[in-house]
Parts: sequence; structure tokens; C-alpha cells
Amino acid sequence: MAKASTPTQYGFVSKLLHWTLFLLVSANFILITRVDMLIKGDARISQLVNLHRSIGVLVLLLAALFIYWEISHPKPALPKNMNKPSRILAKSVHGLMFLLLLALPISGYVMSTLAGKTISFFGLFNLPVLLAANKPMAKEVFEVHGALAFTLLILVLIHVAASFYHHLVKKDNVLVRMLPFGKA
Ligand code: HEM
Ligand code: HEM
Repeated sequence: MAKASTPTQYGFVSKLLHWTLFLLVSANFILITRVDMLIKGDARISQLVNLHRSIGVLVLLLAALFIYWEISHPKPALPKNMNKPSRILAKSVHGLMFLLLLALPISGYVMSTLAGKTISFFGLFNLPVLLAANKPMAKEVFEVHGALAFTLLILVLIHVAASFYHHLVKKDNVLVRMLPFGKA
């Protein structure tokens, strides 16, 4: 598989970053659901939230790399038979998801730092503390973090539905060219 994308096919780097981000973002949603299921005071909560933070920081790094890669390299064009509104919708959803992949972890960092927590990256090192603790503000940013996560979830659902629509109804190569071993 070619490293870079071609006019018809996503390359190895784009696919690797896309699907790794998918797994990490999904893991973070699952971890939070697990946290919500535990009773307050359970010792496992802080372990799970720490893991959630580390994975979120990794998402920030990989999303920055993904955006850099997609901007600086050519990528497959949308199918010719797509009308203008659909093109605008596809590009807007992709653009918003890129933004949220940055904004969501950043809001998580801001929220945790304002709450006075040290953020460890998988126990390897601590992230620098760039903000003074401010608990009331941390609560507000928590609301923002939740709202951003919810928005990303909705966009991903639209994105997945659109991928299947292309594959099953339009019968074009949009889904296959992004699949790990798919060849369009
Ligand atoms: C892919 C990135 C991330 C996703 C999808 C995500 C998603 C979520 C969701 C859905 C919640 C629950 C919100 C609610 O109950 O209203 C949450 C809570 C939280 N997130 Fe994130 N988050 C991400 C990154 C981060 C990062 C980078 C940090 C910190 C460095 C962080 C720290 C937290 C904390 C401390 C909570 C509260 C946990 C609790 O219930 O005690 N998140 N996150
Ligand atoms: C956390 C979940 C996901 C996120 C954040 C995400 C994000 C993105 C982004 C930002 C792009 C645009 C890449 C670019 O402009 O070069 C993209 C492309 C794509 N994604 Fe996802 N994605 C997710 C999950 C999925 C899933 C589950 C599927 C399949 C069922 C999927 C199928 C695709 C396809 C087919 C493309 C290529 C679209 C095209 O050719 O224009 N994605 N994804």
C-alpha cells in the first residue's frame, strides 16, 4: 500500500491515523460510560479517568498529525456525481470533526488543570500546568467538554451513515478507499 494518498485511494498514513483515531476516540467514550456506571468513591474511577486523560492527549497529538498530513498531501477527490450541497456537507462534517478532535482534548486539559489535577501521560511524564486552579471555572469547562463530545458523537454518526449510504446506495468507492485493506 502506498504511503501517500492518490487521486483514487487513501494511502497508508491517512488510513493508519484515521482508524487509530477512531479506536482511541471510541475507547474514550467507552471509558467514560464505564466511569458513569461505577458508584462514587470507587477506587477504579480515578484509574479510568487517568486513562481517559492520557488517551485524550494522544488523540490531540495524532489529530494534529492527521490534519497536517491531510493538508500537506493530495487526497482522493469526492465522486464526480456528488452534487454541490452534498460536497459542502461532506467537507463541513470533515472540517468540524477535525476541529473537534483538537478542541475536545484541549477542553479536557483545561478542565482538569483548572480542577487542580495533574495530567499524567500514561504514567510516563506529567503535562505542564499552564493554568491556575479555579474550581468554578473547571465546572463550566466540564459542560463545554461534554457538549463538544456530544457534538462529535452526532457528527460521527452522520459520517458513518454517509459512508454506508455511499457504499450501499450510491455504490461508489468512498468507503472502500478508506478501509484498512480496501482497494478502490
Ligand atoms: C478524544 C478525546 C476525548 C473524548 C471523546 C472525551 C469524552 C468525554 C465525555 C463524553 C465525558 C463525559 C461528559 C459528561 O458527563 O457530560 C468526559 C468527561 C471527562 N473528560 Fe474527556 N474526552 C476526551 C479527552 C479528554 C482529555 C484530553 C482530558 C484531560 C486531559 C479529559 C478529561 C475528562 C474528565 C476529567 C472528565 C470527567 C470524568 C468524570 O466523570 O469524573 N477528556 N470526556
Ligand atoms: C471517531 C470516529 C471518526 C472520526 C473522528 C472520523 C473522522 C474523519 C475525518 C476527519 C475524515 C476526513 C479525512 C480527510 O479529509 O482527508 C474522515 C474520512 C473518512 N471516514 Fe471517518 N471518522 C471516524 C470514523 C469513521 C467510521 C466508523 C467510518 C466507516 C464506517 C469512517 C469512514 C470514513 C471514510 C469512508 C472517509 C473518507 C471520505 C472521503 O473519501 O472523502 N470514519 N473521517
